[in-house]
Amino acid sequence: METKTQFFTTPIYYVNARPHLGHAYTTIAADVATRFKQMDDHDTYFLTGTDEHGDKIVQAAQKQHQSPREYVNKITRLFQDLWPRLSVQNNQFIRTTDPAHIQVVENLLTRIHDKGDIYFSSYEGQYCFGCERFYQDRELVEGKCPDHGVAPATIKESNYFFKMGQYQDWLIDHIKTHPGFIHPRQYETELLSFLKEPLEDLCISRPKSRLTWGITLPFDSDYVTYVWFDALVNYISALGYPDGALFKKFWPTARHFVAKDIIKPHGIYWPIMLKAAGIDIYAGLNVHGFWNVSGSKMSKSVGNVTDPVAVTDRYGVDAFRYFLMREMVFGLDANFTEDVLVSRINADLANDLGNLFSRVLSMHLRYFKGIVPAMTTAPDISLASDARAAIDGFQKAMTRYEFHKATATVWQFISSMNKYVDMHEPWKLAKATEKRPLLAAVICNLLEGLRTVACLIYPVMPGTSEKMLTALGMTIPEKGFFLLDQILSWGQVQPGTRLAKPPILFPRIDVPAKDGSKKKTTPADRKKNAGVTPETKPVITMEDFAKMDLRTGTIDAAEKIAGSDKLLKLQVDLGTDTRQVVAGIGRQYNPKDLVGRQVVVVANLQQATLMGEESQGMVLAAGTKKELVLAGFDTRVPPGSPVK
Ligand code: MSP
Repeated sequence: METKTQFFTTPIYYVNARPHLGHAYTTIAADVATRFKQMDDHDTYFLTGTDEHGDKIVQAAQKQHQSPREYVNKITRLFQDLWPRLSVQNNQFIRTTDPAHIQVVENLLTRIHDKGDIYFSSYEGQYCFGCERFYQDRELVEGKCPDHGVAPATIKESNYFFKMGQYQDWLIDHIKTHPGFIHPRQYETELLSFLKEPLEDLCISRPKSRLTWGITLPFDSDYVTYVWFDALVNYISALGYPDGALFKKFWPTARHFVAKDIIKPHGIYWPIMLKAAGIDIYAGLNVHGFWNVSGSKMSKSVGNVTDPVAVTDRYGVDAFRYFLMREMVFGLDANFTEDVLVSRINADLANDLGNLFSRVLSMHLRYFKGIVPAMTTAPDISLASDARAAIDGFQKAMTRYEFHKATATVWQFISSMNKYVDMHEPWKLAKATEKRPLLAAVICNLLEGLRTVACLIYPVMPGTSEKMLTALGMTIPEKGFFLLDQILSWGQVQPGTRLAKPPILFPRIDVPAKDGSKKKTTPADRKKNAGVTPETKPVITMEDFAKMDLRTGTIDAAEKIAGSDKLLKLQVDLGTDTRQVVAGIGRQYNPKDLVGRQVVVVANLQQATLMGEESQGMVLAAGTKKELVLAGFDTRVPPGSPVK
């Protein structure tokens, strides 16, 4: 039988900064996908690495008073050390400074140049140093780079250009005739709409007078290659293009994971570069959204750049991986906050999964002295069929890279098992001797259910999967997991096996109370905290509601009002104008954490003066006087957008 293969890649990350949550997400997502394909009997290859050339790196090295080489070696090590800590099992780590990579870049440039698709020309344009590229006027937002918010510099220079226009129709046709090539669908639409405009030729060189930290063009030693023409090539150089065995085996199934920020180089430049060089294009591009942190874009100035090492040190790697996969709908933006992470750990991991596991194994220990009984009555059909549905649902979702759905499906099964325990009340069965066979069947079913869960969570939580399977007395195959089609068969936890006291999978996280003491949140607390019963108000009509001018605003500045610990003075950008708003959130929020944050503003509220400060509106928040939380959005919206 022919072996199924699968090649997954992550972007190669710039080494101008330390690894953060965003890098961790893409790499973990690709790792989860790889582990799943292995369970689906594929021979896999998983590549990640670092992008080490270009202006940005030189600037970062200069800031540290280091040579680019010293600097890239230092930061690359941080990425290399991070992946094993996050249980990422990449087969290879490529660096664009690797001599073998450089050779392939030269080879590709020569091929495309020889073909006549690269030409030399003089050019004057708007260049953004942050993006390392020229911008067309129409791409700028109010004259500024849309990503960096700074006006680009006008630069005139002679450079090499890659003719892309001639491949435009071919690319459009390829995208349209290969559903799933760009995944999820909304990004296919985005690319096709971009491709409605004629493609400009791409400037692919930088004169050495401006930048030397790059790969010299094989046909002109006064120039280095543009960073994307270097970086994208990593996906084939790593496999030993053109003749490497890995290239032959894995390239036809290449699927790249990236976030939406780099869809254009991957969805347009890269397929066209491959086509021009006469190389088959990759099989697919998986594009995901962005993680914001506490409602804002991650940035050094906001101070919310999240370090994956700190999070895993505190909460454990499996909990972190689970949270990332469960919380982000692949393709959409998501929001990271420690509070949400902790409540997911306590609810999904410690409570739903952890309690079930320890409850079942403890009952097994108590009622059967830890020796797996034989199932002498017919196994309960409903749990086995729920397990089948969970395996099917999990497989379907994972095949579509819908990690959130895949995990939700497993948790649905966990919830069915919790209900199964409550329904059969094994503690009552244990009291009657004649109910022993039924008790054995119930416990065996539960052990089988736990085995199913342990097998399914392997891609997301490999450590927990191993712990659970070991506790269930299973012999784990040497590769570390069970194949998908080995999971279903019911009755694999062998009668007669001795099972020990179960380990605690996920300890509950203590949530510090406001007075500084630690308090465990219980399900009852959660219910209690779920909502404060609001005071009932008279019904209003749509017309009444429409009288309110609710808009989004971005906080530009925030400061305390002297003499009050409760009131803050905010300058809020409403798109059309900036308003001063006085808000009573001073006990809950530190002014410096508010800058850049999006809020909902009642823009037509009558002006008021509070503690001598004028307030031209109100920001919305929820909660009690003590615990106020600002209303916001999980994705950024332009300031001034109406809230409906
Ligand atoms: N070096 C280029 C990629 C070259 S690939 C041939 C680059 N590097 S980067 O360090 O800026 O990494 C960008 C990628 O990091 C994103 O596409 C995404 O995979 C990940 N993320 C960075 N910030 C992110 C978030 N805030 N959220 C999710 N992922 C993000 O671009």
